[in-house]
Amino acid sequence: MSYKHLFTPVKVGNCEIPNRIAVTAMVCSMCTEEGDATERYVKYHEAKARGGYGLIITEDYRVSAHAGGYKYVAGIYKESQIEGHRKMVEAVHKYGTKIFCQIYHAGRQSSASVNGGVPIVAPSPTSSPWNRDLARELTVPEIQQIVRDFGNTAANAKKAGFDGIEIHAGNGYLIAGFMSFHSNKRTDEYGGCFANRMRFFDEVYHAVREAVGPDFPIMVRFSADEHTLSGRTLEESKMVARHMEELGVDAINCSNGIYGTYNPGQVAPSYQPHAWTIQNAKAIKEVVSIPVLGCNSIDDPHMADSILDQGYCDLVGMARCSLADPDMPNKAKAGEDARIRPCIRCMQGCVTSTYLQIPMRCCVNPEMNREYLYTFEDEPASKKVLVVGGGVAGMQAAIAAARRGHDVTLWEKSDALGGQFIAAAYPPGKGDYVTYTCYMINELKVQKVKVEMNKDATADAVRAFGADKVILATGGLPNRPRVPGIDRDNVYFAEDILRGRVLPEGRILVAGGGEVGVETAMHLADAERGEITVVEMTNAICAGADGTRVVAMKKFLNEREVRLMLNTKVLEFCANGVLVEQRGRTRLIPCDHVVVSMGYHPNDALVEELKDLGDKVAVVGDAVKCANAMEAGVSGFEAGYNA
Ligand SMILES: Cc1cc2nc3c(=O)[nH]c(=O)nc-3n(C[C@H](O)[C@H](O)[C@H](O)COP(=O)(O)O)c2cc1C
Ligand code: SF4
Repeated sequence: MSYKHLFTPVKVGNCEIPNRIAVTAMVCSMCTEEGDATERYVKYHEAKARGGYGLIITEDYRVSAHAGGYKYVAGIYKESQIEGHRKMVEAVHKYGTKIFCQIYHAGRQSSASVNGGVPIVAPSPTSSPWNRDLARELTVPEIQQIVRDFGNTAANAKKAGFDGIEIHAGNGYLIAGFMSFHSNKRTDEYGGCFANRMRFFDEVYHAVREAVGPDFPIMVRFSADEHTLSGRTLEESKMVARHMEELGVDAINCSNGIYGTYNPGQVAPSYQPHAWTIQNAKAIKEVVSIPVLGCNSIDDPHMADSILDQGYCDLVGMARCSLADPDMPNKAKAGEDARIRPCIRCMQGCVTSTYLQIPMRCCVNPEMNREYLYTFEDEPASKKVLVVGGGVAGMQAAIAAARRGHDVTLWEKSDALGGQFIAAAYPPGKGDYVTYTCYMINELKVQKVKVEMNKDATADAVRAFGADKVILATGGLPNRPRVPGIDRDNVYFAEDILRGRVLPEGRILVAGGGEVGVETAMHLADAERGEITVVEMTNAICAGADGTRVVAMKKFLNEREVRLMLNTKVLEFCANGVLVEQRGRTRLIPCDHVVVSMGYHPNDALVEELKDLGDKVAVVGDAVKCANAMEAGVSGFEAGYNA
């Protein structure tokens, strides 16, 4: 399939962007606490430019020392910061990619703890559920100072060589806060009617325009639908867009949502359909004549091309896609579809890293954020490498070792590659996971890894193979709780259900409300297998999972009338139900089938048996400690890289 529009240029103001693929802004927490660019930050952006993205919009540069929403967001509010950021711009320009600097004030969506101890400010004294700090209402002189800060930052960005500015007026940050009824309760000239609520934006726009001059591109990002009660709706957003065009804005970037409502409008988990808000971009495009960028869960270049073809927008934002695969545009252009590493919208790396204020990570791309550390150019002398286990960690290890020039063999005990990712793809909303497993399998072929299926890796077989390096990626095994009745015929494990080995019907009790248990319940409910109950020992389901995902899962369970029983301990699997303890009381929950999902433990028998091989052996992934797919992938990759 060829592309009609994706690789055609587009103009924003007088800036010609070589293709329609834009990386929209993402906080990556790779700058210093002051906001200065680091080598890690430069290389991270450079990788995407090298990979062919037409436009990169940076993370949101704070307009003053205390305007950020995260501890390590970029800043160019001081002259001394220009030089460092210029290096990043120049690295991107080497590949013809254009780069816009997104500028913002976080407003109430920040906290004193990430902002140098300074209390947060907003149009009105409200708090965002995101951080719970109470914001102080801004005075008019303070508003005017922030307007000047925007102008100053824009001027510095232009000096650093950026090709344009993106004013962040979306997602509930300070400008959005003024624009929305949801958070603006002022009764002065900055609150109330449409013109008053737009006043702060207007002043910021004029300050930025004055700072950068009439010909410098200014794009604005805003939320076309705030997806929140008394937040802005699409109809008012059309007025906003028209107003912005009249002011002289050169392009509009349509995001959605605000913080704190676990609102998938901003960043959606895999439970939302692909391109699910693109209609909003179309609605905005219909009322303006300047270019419009549409985004949200678009990671297939063919879908992006089709969206352009249907006239939904002029540029397509593919943010997380660029984390999963910085080379996506070049691969797409070369027709190498199967080699595009897909974002699986797991939120495990990217979004979670922002909360933790650590350099952004990606579940499927272990190189992301370490571009400055790894090189595959100076390949070491070839070694004979044996990888045992074909799950995520094993495949990552094998691919990395092969890319380093080693002679790699992978043994997989079963008849399928993918490990736990095979089952993980079955529940509703997890289809993206299959694409990732397919990508990995194809990559093993591309990197000429010798794969042997149905191969039992005994210690003797491993020794006889005579590898210079053995990487044990034998994964984890489901915990088999010591609960009476565990051996009954009607007791299964989650994987048996997900892999289609059994198909229970009737009253089904899932024992364990972690992610696997809940997703298995969703899978059963989706197939309408009967009355489903999830029993969880703690007071919450899916501990450790991203909040947006948990909200989506709960919604699904609710809609399908799946019963959740928290603080409930399983005591015995009986013939006619499960005996549980709840608030000190014992009771029987009648059911016909039980699905056990009570965690995993390392499958590490070989580790002990091969101890005599010393540091010839590396153990990775769940075989060391059962964690999430990202940790497994990273440890596999590192062992392969350093084989
Ligand atoms: C980790 C992370 C950080 C983000 N930070 C910003 C930001 O600084 N400014 C912004 O406008 N949007 C931010 N976004 C939203 C993205 O620009 C994008 O709109 C969103 O991820 C949906 O697009 P996608 O499905 O292509 O990833 C962020 C998204 C992620 C995943
Ligand atoms: S961590 Fe998950 S959601 Fe984030 S970019 Fe990587 S694959 Fe996508």
